[in-house]
Amino acid sequence: MAHNDSLKYTVKSTYRKTEKVVHEMGFDLQSILSQYDKQNFSLYSEYINPQLVRVLRSIGFDKFYTHGRGAYLYDADGNEYLDFLSGFGVFALGRSHPAIKKALHEALDADLPSLIQLDAALLPGVAAKTLLEHCHEGMQRVFFTNSGAESVEAAIKFARAATQREKILYADHAFHGLTYGALSANGGQDFKTGFGPFLPGFTQVPFGDIKFVATELKKKDVAAVLLEPIQGKGVNMASLEYFSELSALCKEAGTLLIIDEVQTGLGRTGKLWAHEHYGLHPDIITVSKALSGGFMPVGAMICSKEISNSVYSSMDRAVVHSSTFKNNQLAMVAVLATLNTITEENLVENARLTGLAFEKALAPLVEKYELLQEVRGLGLMIGFEFGKPKSFALKTKFQLLEKARTGLFSQLIVGPLFTRHKILTQVAGDAMNVVKILPPLVVGQKEVDRFTEALDDVLSIAHKGNRLIFDFSSTLLKGTLKSKK
Ligand SMILES: Cc1ncc(COP(=O)(O)O)c(C=O)c1O
Repeated sequence: MAHNDSLKYTVKSTYRKTEKVVHEMGFDLQSILSQYDKQNFSLYSEYINPQLVRVLRSIGFDKFYTHGRGAYLYDADGNEYLDFLSGFGVFALGRSHPAIKKALHEALDADLPSLIQLDAALLPGVAAKTLLEHCHEGMQRVFFTNSGAESVEAAIKFARAATQREKILYADHAFHGLTYGALSANGGQDFKTGFGPFLPGFTQVPFGDIKFVATELKKKDVAAVLLEPIQGKGVNMASLEYFSELSALCKEAGTLLIIDEVQTGLGRTGKLWAHEHYGLHPDIITVSKALSGGFMPVGAMICSKEISNSVYSSMDRAVVHSSTFKNNQLAMVAVLATLNTITEENLVENARLTGLAFEKALAPLVEKYELLQEVRGLGLMIGFEFGKPKSFALKTKFQLLEKARTGLFSQLIVGPLFTRHKILTQVAGDAMNVVKILPPLVVGQKEVDRFTEALDDVLSIAHKGNRLIFDFSSTLLKGTLKSKK
């Protein structure tokens, strides 16, 4: 037997054997799910992260979810939860969207030749072309990634390569991910403590204040300004003037403007890109969370030909920035199906209109409750800022909570919204009294009403200084203090 024939024979028979084993013994997901029924917390605690489990238990978020559909999650006891967290914005289309499921089934059945590596696959090209059709004209190239942080890492590297400068300016309260480049641009201490030193060349500037950034830009040595159009931590917004001045100053200084749309991108704010609200034409855009409809880890860094060519500047440098899984076919199919669904279901417009419905429904609560200082955001990215009340009785209670732990009050809103009303929301960041909602873009008036009534109820309890709230706070404190051991 010639050498090649024997090789062919081995490969073929191994494959046949595998197929037979799979067929006879069968991997059975259902039997795994029933074997480990409700053991999620013990397994997670033993093998992944016990502290997270302690936190979830202490705040009453220790449910065993069995499935999710649209804007709703279901637990093993048959309870239905309104998911206003949407996996931090990942499930913009709602959970288990049938169009993306169908596309992924089709892709699997087609045995697509994924990740050949020494190849230029078809679907990444189609996905890049389609994504660029949704961007401003200056955007001509896409680098696909596996996450938001990886997209930001790519943006930092490409900006340095394109400008041949080192400096990156980022904002206070910024969040761009937790890998070293992204973490070096984190505008808080919570995620940084214990992990230094960080990358050199990173300078923090106040978000929304043009003076400081202008002084830095005048030095003409800044590679890029890296900003979220609306900050995820705190749902902080800057003015139109700030962004337009910043954009002009960047151009003048030869500095690239990187707009991180990982959370805001693909319709969340009522426009496809949040930077459109500010009339910006960023040099680099990063996107991730919503990009695959929640099914595949995927992200993208989008830029001009010039920026891309500065990295891939010769055949020698054709793979100088890359990663093994970046163009995987299932992710690309999910990206294409997601972009198609966003257009077909008119989700951007729905986010805008439902955002306005929220604004209208929530405004009276700001009037009604002194603890609720402000509701802000755009479209379906909404923050609720709580603050020191004026009346004596409430002020004392609020101050006590703040003394125990800064930002504790917002946890006392998120807790009962979940335990009492089965609505999943989040505190918008550490040490701040801001609650954030990121509903799927498919929600409508029904969900607006349900949430508004629930928030009204929880705030009325808080205003009465009711035990429910303060019992919850002591459980929470006990739990979190214990988890520090
Ligand atoms: C604006 C922004 N950039 C980057 C990231 C990091 O994304 P990932 O968690 O996928 O790495 C996040 C995550 O929350 C984000 O909100």
